[in-house]
Amino acid sequence: MVRTSKAPLLAVAVDRQSDEPAYRQLYNQVRAAILDGRLKPGRRLPSSRGLAKDLGVSRNTVLTAFEMLLHEGYTESGIGSGTRVSAVLPEALLSARDSSQRPVDKPATVSGARISRLATSLDSMRQRTRADQRTFRPGLPAVEHFPWNVWGRLAGRVWRHPPSGQIGGGDLGGYRPLRDAIAAYVAAVRGVRCSAAQVMITSGAQQGLDLVARLLLNPGDRVWMENPGYAGLRGAFTAAGAEIVPLPVDGEGLNVEAGRQRAPDAVLAAVTPSHQYPTGVTMSLARRLELLDWAREAGGWILEDDYDSEYRYAGKPLSALQGLDDTGRVIYVGTFSKVMFPALRLGYVILPEPLIAPFKAMCAVLTDAPALGLQPVLAAFMDDGHFAAHVRRTRALYAERQRYFLGALTRIAGGLLVAQSDEAGMHMVVRFDAGLDIGDKEAAARADRAGISAPALSGYYFDKADAEGLVLGYTGFSETEIEAGIRRLATAIDPDRIRTDLGRSHT
Ligand SMILES: Cc1ncc(COP(=O)(O)O)c(C=O)c1O
Repeated sequence: MVRTSKAPLLAVAVDRQSDEPAYRQLYNQVRAAILDGRLKPGRRLPSSRGLAKDLGVSRNTVLTAFEMLLHEGYTESGIGSGTRVSAVLPEALLSARDSSQRPVDKPATVSGARISRLATSLDSMRQRTRADQRTFRPGLPAVEHFPWNVWGRLAGRVWRHPPSGQIGGGDLGGYRPLRDAIAAYVAAVRGVRCSAAQVMITSGAQQGLDLVARLLLNPGDRVWMENPGYAGLRGAFTAAGAEIVPLPVDGEGLNVEAGRQRAPDAVLAAVTPSHQYPTGVTMSLARRLELLDWAREAGGWILEDDYDSEYRYAGKPLSALQGLDDTGRVIYVGTFSKVMFPALRLGYVILPEPLIAPFKAMCAVLTDAPALGLQPVLAAFMDDGHFAAHVRRTRALYAERQRYFLGALTRIAGGLLVAQSDEAGMHMVVRFDAGLDIGDKEAAARADRAGISAPALSGYYFDKADAEGLVLGYTGFSETEIEAGIRRLATAIDPDRIRTDLGRSHT
């Protein structure tokens, strides 16, 4: 039986046969009425008592629904004025017409909460978070291939006999044996020149980026960034109050000459030279040397974000920029999120000697030493050779997955989506073959609604985008998932151009 309310302007009904609890039904309907404008800002809601009577539900049911609306900022209540639709509905709330379709990582902003200008500007960047693990999320590793049994065994071994002298608190740079292992690894594999004392363990690369920005930048300082570029870097620089100078990226990487012209006095240049994020370009040797020249002449710093350098499938790997630097101007940032798993939250910053003491002094106040928990386990994992073996195995797996991805893309979505093989990395930029009149943001939104994580390339640009496409990760998904994902993606973008003839029979 369905009872409807007689309250003016509030056509709501409660269906007793429904599996959905009455308070939920009520909440959903009032919320929908607010979002689609039937209930205007400032409009008073009927009394809970009257509404309960109309609907034949308990007053508690109505109060629960009202409480949820209030808590989420759809309504506000003033003494003696009852409950009203919030006068100012936050933009985020308005765009979140249907929360069931909204990824969980994009919560609505709570109306009326006073937050800082910084938090507001970071909030407006509205980045996807790591909680999004849907098909094609960029940078997701094949976690099902991680040797969890080895990891578990090492964790037990290490923690049955806790590292002596560390339990009360440790070095601000992190657990020394892990720093030793990292220094040896980056020297051997990336040509980085450093001692273990220069290695600072952080909670993922992101914390390293944030700390480096705080260490080196004053508000108003100018910073070169790649355009398109990585939102995590942009966030760290924004938080430090820096003025970001976006510079074009071409086939050789960051355009250093453009930087010299636009902001020769920049304090820092941030680059992803191994595999530019998100375009995938490798910075040429000539550009690397040009950038180092600028740093030397201008007294600037270079932040090298080497986030996925383990994954190079072909071609000659270029060693890290840090290894080419004779003047101590490069800060090198690495992460275990890609090789191990993102939630590990372990990364590192390799500092030029003079920055070690001020970095640690800052950490003493801001972050303290990094959590000891998994550092000794990771050190053992590296020392016992499991890390190198895992990199080898996943490198072969990812090369295979990339091949499969490209084949499936042509087979299923040829004529609509196109991508070129990439010698490195964990994601690729997929372009629209013969153009697409809806634009990449709308394509990304359609993908999102179809349960596919496919950020628009134009979203990585600071200003007008030079190119359109979708940034798709392929490493974290099986062939079956890739196949189904491409089909779902192509169908969501343009069902008329999906190749139904060949697409269904995959060999
Ligand atoms: C370019 C780039 N830099 C840095 C990171 C940060 O990695 P994490 O903070 O997980 O270590 C990422 C992660 O996606 C990335 O894509």
